[in-house]
Amino acid sequence: MVHSCLDDFVYYDQHQLMMEGVALSTLADHYGTPLYCYSKASVIHAIDQYKSAFAQSPIFNRSAGATSPEVAIHYAAKANSRLALLQIIKASGIGLDIVSVGEMMAGMRAGFAPQDIIYSGVGKTMADIEFAINNNIGQLNVESFDEINMLVAAAQKIKPAKPIDVAVRINPDISAGAHGKISTGKAGDKFGIAINECFAAYQSLAASPYLAPHAIAMHIGSQLTDMAVVEKAYRQLADLINSLHQKNITIKTADIGGGMAITYDKETPLPLADYADMVGRVFAPLGAIGLKKIAIEPGRSIIARAGVLLTRVILQKTSGGRHITVVDAAMNDLIRPTLYHAHHAILPLDGGNQPSGEAIDMAAQDVVGGICETGDFLALARNLPKFNNGDKLAVLQVGAYGAMMMSNYNTRMMPAEVVVAGTEHRLIRPRQTFDDFFALEQQLETTIVI
Ligand code: LLP
Repeated sequence: MVHSCLDDFVYYDQHQLMMEGVALSTLADHYGTPLYCYSKASVIHAIDQYKSAFAQSPIFNRSAGATSPEVAIHYAAKANSRLALLQIIKASGIGLDIVSVGEMMAGMRAGFAPQDIIYSGVGKTMADIEFAINNNIGQLNVESFDEINMLVAAAQKIKPAKPIDVAVRINPDISAGAHGKISTGKAGDKFGIAINECFAAYQSLAASPYLAPHAIAMHIGSQLTDMAVVEKAYRQLADLINSLHQKNITIKTADIGGGMAITYDKETPLPLADYADMVGRVFAPLGAIGLKKIAIEPGRSIIARAGVLLTRVILQKTSGGRHITVVDAAMNDLIRPTLYHAHHAILPLDGGNQPSGEAIDMAAQDVVGGICETGDFLALARNLPKFNNGDKLAVLQVGAYGAMMMSNYNTRMMPAEVVVAGTEHRLIRPRQTFDDFFALEQQLETTIVI
């Protein structure tokens, strides 16, 4: 079986599905299932790919004498903000992009300097904004005039010693992203400020001595595969930076968002080298009118491939002619298939059940969890090996937006999470226990039991 989702970090060796130097089967036995496992080397490799794509692109290759703006990579913590993973990412020397105070706290606990953090998000409260200012956030991206008013008031109250760098996030009115739920750049989407309103936004911000509105931001969607659409949006942003300059607003930082796709199934991601060249072609000329930095905010493309979800077959049945395989992971552990009809490859941990040389017996099957709704599935009508009850499986490429979107639906406890590094493995988050879970409510027992 050759799968585009296998790589140097998650691969078969002697029919055993491995993560780096560890057989995933031993992790399933040791920690139990369901279990999230992440490869440290995969995360580092993905970051290195970004770094080298930009370092090798002629326009950004400063050692070759280029004078273009610098490129700053800010990992989008929303994809996965587990502290151990953030520590690995921090050690790679890149910055962070966050959308909540929780993510900012996670970043700071993992060692990120607040100055290396960009705070995006459409619904920041006054308390959120004050937290960010009090902790010297590196850049705050605003998305509405109400938010601008809140920010101006918060800055006036706190009077930060150094003005806060602010970006106006624009809405370029471009449809992109794998599907509606993760497309963010169209007029009518809740994100950003319309291009024709952004001059007014900069004027309002510039009225505060505590704000430095010298950045502009845009994020058009996630799982982007069409380079032409991305380039069109970027060119629009570059044009806007030019016209703001003509109105005496100098943009020093262009934050162009995240969104690079990965291959879950048959998608063709944009080659990073081509992407870096395109970013250079579009934005490097703006160096002449004061652009100093291009920030990118990749999430999925850094962490998705590093993560797998291990699960076990509980039982099998047929219904209306369909073969149904019930496993011990469910939509509360991984909601992407349910929510987006997302494809995640499913592979047996022990691929060697068949006598050697014999073709593996396959069957179209639904792989589902035990939750009480029909939308609870990990794969539908998928052609997979015929499994035995008790078989251990891996759901692949779940490092991004997997564990982050877990819930306790059906009062199911959240799985444990483990990082693999070489031949070692370490628990980074224990399985949630019923005691942990009920403790929050038991504290209230005396007040609610009448
Ligand atoms: N920057 C901003 C402002 C964003 O809103 C996002 C993602 C990113 C960066 C990172 O995008 P990425 O490189 O990961 O595509 N839960 C969905 C994805 C939602 C993405 C939301 N914004 C999923 O599971 O596919």
